[in-house]
Amino acid sequence: MGLPFTWYKLIPYFCTLFTNNHSLAFLHVKDAKQIYKIMKFNTKVIHAGIQPDPTTGAIMTPIYQTSTYVQAAPGDHKGYEYARTQNPTRTVLEANLAALENGADAVCFASGLAALDAILKLLKPGDEVIATNDLYGGSYRLMTKIFGNYGIHFHFTSFDNTADLDALSNEKTKMIWIETPTNPMLNIIDIQKVANWAKSKSILVCVDNTFASPYLQTPLDLGADIVLHSATKYLGGHSDVIHGAVIVKDKTIGDQLHFIQNASGAVPGPQDCFLVLRGIKTLHIRVQRACENAMYIAE
Ligand SMILES: Cc1ncc(COP(=O)(O)O)c(C=O)c1O
Repeated sequence: MGLPFTWYKLIPYFCTLFTNNHSLAFLHVKDAKQIYKIMKFNTKVIHAGIQPDPTTGAIMTPIYQTSTYVQAAPGDHKGYEYARTQNPTRTVLEANLAALENGADAVCFASGLAALDAILKLLKPGDEVIATNDLYGGSYRLMTKIFGNYGIHFHFTSFDNTADLDALSNEKTKMIWIETPTNPMLNIIDIQKVANWAKSKSILVCVDNTFASPYLQTPLDLGADIVLHSATKYLGGHSDVIHGAVIVKDKTIGDQLHFIQNASGAVPGPQDCFLVLRGIKTLHIRVQRACENAMYIAE
């Protein structure tokens, strides 16, 4: 005698079908970027860019702890040659970060300052930058003590009004550097207002989004061109990794930064990329709780 058909036993199957990475992997094949656009933020932190590992089906991104990759013949490879240039764990993290910030591309680095170093290398001697005056000390040091020696000139201002920007800018101004909220004073800068000012002048607007995290603020949606993260902070979230990331609106700038990433070589290790990927999976919960706690204290 056969067992009666109990339809409710199929519920877990359908739940799996619609929530796990296999169904997403199927969708990725069709058009990953379109799918990230319709995913909500809390879904993106867990799923964006993540695909089952093609070699084993491992659902969590493996740590590809390898320096080099076998080529069937010179130049005949699977997209990976040498781990300074490409690493599969890093590739997944970069896709995830691009989706979180609504960007066209992301480029990962060994630290937040290595990421800033790469962004400043987009400039040439003689170029000028207008930057937040209440800036993370390490960013100020890199600008004034390192890049200042290579002929790049920095002006520092509060960004309280655009009249100051008119006064400080000239035809050599190539970049705006905003940190908001600032470290240490937590000052807030109106990204949209500054981006609108810069737009007609072809000045790149870069935002250090470390303190807000993409859960609270997505600067590219407000008109910025480049976003920086010290992933050491909210993205990593567990005080167990030093890591930096740049997310860009324009793929061409992304390509330039990938060139610098490979040419200068300040790449993160695969284990660090794995830790940041894992940290990001709880970003929405952690920042939500931090906001609730802050509100409780303020009240
Ligand atoms: C706002 C901000 N940007 C950049 C950095 C530099 O990041 P990292 O320490 O990962 O090099 C920090 C570090 O504290 C920071 O607070």
